[in-house]
Amino acid sequence: MDEHATTPLIAVDNLGVRLNTSRGPAQAVRGVSFALKRGETLGLVGESGCGKSVTALSLMGLLPDSASITGSIKLEGRELAGLSDADYCGLRGNRISMIFQEPMTALNPMHTIGHQVAEPLQRHKAYSASQARREAIALLDRVGLPDPSRRIDAYPHQFSGGQRQRVTIAMALACEPDLLIADEPTTALDVTIQGQILDLIAELVEERGMSMILISHDLGVIAENVQRMMVMYGGTVVESGSTDEVFRRMGHPYTQGLFRARPKLGARKGTRLTTIAGTVPELVDLPAGCAFGDRCPLVEDRCRAALPPVVEVGAGHGVRCVRTDVSMAAHVGAPA
Ligand SMILES: Nc1ncnc2c1ncn2[C@@H]1O[C@H](COP(=O)(O)OP(=O)(O)OP(=O)(O)O)[C@@H](O)[C@H]1O
Ligand SMILES: [Mg+2]
Repeated sequence: MDEHATTPLIAVDNLGVRLNTSRGPAQAVRGVSFALKRGETLGLVGESGCGKSVTALSLMGLLPDSASITGSIKLEGRELAGLSDADYCGLRGNRISMIFQEPMTALNPMHTIGHQVAEPLQRHKAYSASQARREAIALLDRVGLPDPSRRIDAYPHQFSGGQRQRVTIAMALACEPDLLIADEPTTALDVTIQGQILDLIAELVEERGMSMILISHDLGVIAENVQRMMVMYGGTVVESGSTDEVFRRMGHPYTQGLFRARPKLGARKGTRLTTIAGTVPELVDLPAGCAFGDRCPLVEDRCRAALPPVVEVGAGHGVRCVRTDVSMAAHVGAPA
């Protein structure tokens, strides 16, 4: 049998990440598992602090030195958890690339954009300086940077925020990675530019057959851009499934709360934005049971006793909740 047909591109199994925080060690990610085939797209959604970026950084081998990781992350069968930094350097920017929220964190203000787009090509693909420069111009052109052959020698501060994000996308794509991780790639940009950048990313993912993990706190962005999604809360995945299925029948009270709290276009001025009552728990104070327990309208004693198991509520649709009989009767979700 063709091995590539069965081995997923990336397979994450029971990932756990422990971090040293100012208030002591804390489990930032618990029991996260998923697999992505070549060309598949996955969204990670949840409020600030739920562990989306820590999950992404574990895949990139970019966790702080003091972090400890458990479980497994396999890239085409090769274990990445515990890989040395030297080995990771050969993968990062080459097989797996990441686009960050704030383009200036990825760009070096001291180097021209041309140098920064060409650098991974020289490092990973052994291109000559002139080959890499030619390819950088082509990439900058592809991501929609105006007049790239003239502007290639300009510095990051000479570009607008949207243009800088186009440059970081060109950098991330330079070596034709198999997996692109986009961590809130548009939240730092003007609303009018956000859609253009997301459309560009979607086009490139399709055109190059890459797999993508898209991180956002915005359910609308997830709905429009990925095939499958995982909702995170308190470092765990509380709901996962195909995007269509999750939006049709939201099972977790937290997903339902996020959905109700989303800003609505055309809402009348002065309309109150529904938010989920309560605040996200501190990592060091995570309760033994469901992390959402203290904010959940359906909480019962058993929710607080132990982390609820994942209940399969539909094909490939899992919900980490013991109250799905009640929550799913509420029919929260987009109309079919
Ligand atoms: N380097 C670090 N050292 C200590 N704690 C950290 C570190 N990075 C993240 N954390 C903590 O880990 C938890 C998860 O953080 P993470 O950055 O993954 O959240 P997130 O879901 O990406 O949120 P956001 O939407 O704000 O980006 C948070 O409580 C955060 O404070
Ligand atoms: Mg984040």
